[in-house]
Amino acid sequence: MKKISILGSTGSIGRQTLDVISQHADKFRVTALAAGKNIDLLIEQISIFKPIVVSVEDQETASKLDSQIGSSQTQILYGQEGAEAVAEIDGADLVVSAMVGASGLRPTLAAARAGKDIALANKESLVIAGEVLTAEIQKKNNRLLPIDSEHSALFQALECGEKHHVKKLILTASGGPFLNTPKKELEDVSVELALNHPTWKMGKKITIDSATLMNKGFEVIEAKWLFGFEPQEISVWIHPQSIVHSMVEYIDGSVISQMGKPDMRIPIAFAISYPQRISMDCNTVSPESFGNLSFQNVDFEQFPSLSLAFDALKEGGTMPSVMNGANEVAVSAFLSEQIKFTGIISTVEKVMELHNTQPANTLDAVLESDLWARNTAQSLIEN
Ligand SMILES: NC(=O)c1ccc[n+]([C@@H]2O[C@H](COP(=O)([O-])OP(=O)(O)OC[C@H]3O[C@@H](n4cnc5c(N)ncnc54)[C@H](OP(=O)(O)O)[C@@H]3O)[C@@H](O)[C@H]2O)c1
Repeated sequence: MKKISILGSTGSIGRQTLDVISQHADKFRVTALAAGKNIDLLIEQISIFKPIVVSVEDQETASKLDSQIGSSQTQILYGQEGAEAVAEIDGADLVVSAMVGASGLRPTLAAARAGKDIALANKESLVIAGEVLTAEIQKKNNRLLPIDSEHSALFQALECGEKHHVKKLILTASGGPFLNTPKKELEDVSVELALNHPTWKMGKKITIDSATLMNKGFEVIEAKWLFGFEPQEISVWIHPQSIVHSMVEYIDGSVISQMGKPDMRIPIAFAISYPQRISMDCNTVSPESFGNLSFQNVDFEQFPSLSLAFDALKEGGTMPSVMNGANEVAVSAFLSEQIKFTGIISTVEKVMELHNTQPANTLDAVLESDLWARNTAQSLIEN
C-alpha cells in the first residue's frame, strides 16, 4: 500500500489524482491533503479519503472548515506551515505536488527535505528554484517523478537508451487556442477565448500560460532540471492534436515517443505507481481517436514567450525565477482584465530586461528575486 499526500487536492491535477487513487483503493491510501479555499470540495474529499491532516490557505478558511467538520478525526492546519506539514507528514511515501504557481515551492521543498518521493505537477517549483530543489532531492536520493504529460513522455522515452546517446529532447506543444490567430488580433482576445484550450481541461493559470506558450517555456526549463540537458539540446515542436506527448531523438536517428489521448490521469497514474504500471479506465485507443497527426515548427514571433524562456535558461541564476514571478502577476492582471493578452508577455519581457541576475543557489536568493519581480511587474502594470 503506497501512502500519498496531495498538495492542491481541490485543483485539476489534485482531483484527477484522487480519481486514479479511487480506481486503485487496494494500492493507495491518502495520508494528508492541502488545498486553498474550496472547502466544499475539501469536505467531500475528507469524508471519502479520511486523511489524517488537511491544510487550507489561511486561518479564516481553516475556522470555516473546522465549524463544518469539527467532530471529524482529521486535524486542520493552515498557511504555508500547514502545507509544509502536509508535505512532511510521517508515514507518507509520496507527495503529489499540484498547487499552482510559486505557492507550491516551499511545500515541495519541504517534501524533498523530508525524503519523500515527489510526483511533480507544480513545474513552477523547478522554474523558480531548480538548483535548490534538485540539490535537496539528490541529498536524500529520493525520486522526482514528472506529472506533466510532456515530461512523463520524456521520462519513459529516456528509459529506452543511455543519456550520452541522446541527441535531442523534443517537447510537443498543442499551440493553444491562438495557434492560427493572426498576431495583430492577439491584442484584443478576451479572457473567455484565452481560457478555451483546444485539447486540455486545466486550471486557469496554466490555461493562460498555454495560450501564451509560456507554459512550454516553463517546460523547457523543467526538462533541464529533471533530465540534465542543456538549452541547445531541447527543442519544441507544435503538435495540435496532443497525442504525441514528447519525443527523444537518439544519435542513431531513432526517435522514441510516448503517445496517448490527452488525459492527465495517464501520466498521474504512471508517476504515482512508478516503477509499476496500473490499469486505467481510459477509453481504448483506435485509429479514429488518434486521427491525423501533424507537426510544425514554432513561430517565435507569434509566441515570444518561448524565446524569453530559452533566454532565461541560458542566463540562469535568478532570471527564470524573475520570469515566473512577473508572469504570475501579469496572468492574474489579464484574468482580472487589467491588461490585454499581449500585455502578459510584454510585462514579463520588461521585468526581465530590468533584472540584474544573481546566483540562485539558496532559497533566500530565489525568494528575493521572486518578490522583486512581482513588485516590478505590479508597478509596470499600474503605470
Ligand atoms: N491541470 C493540468 O492539466 C496540468 C498539467 C500539467 C501541469 N500542471 C501543473 O499543476 C499545477 C496545478 O495546476 P492545476 O491546473 O491543477 O491548478 P488549479 O486547478 O488552479 O488548482 C490549484 C490548486 O492549488 C490550490 N492552491 C492555490 N493557491 C494555494 C495556496 N496559496 N495555498 C494552498 N493551496 C493553494 C488550489 O486550492 P483551491 O482551489 O481550494 O483554492 C487548488 O487545489 C500547476 O503548477 C500546473 O502548471 C497542471
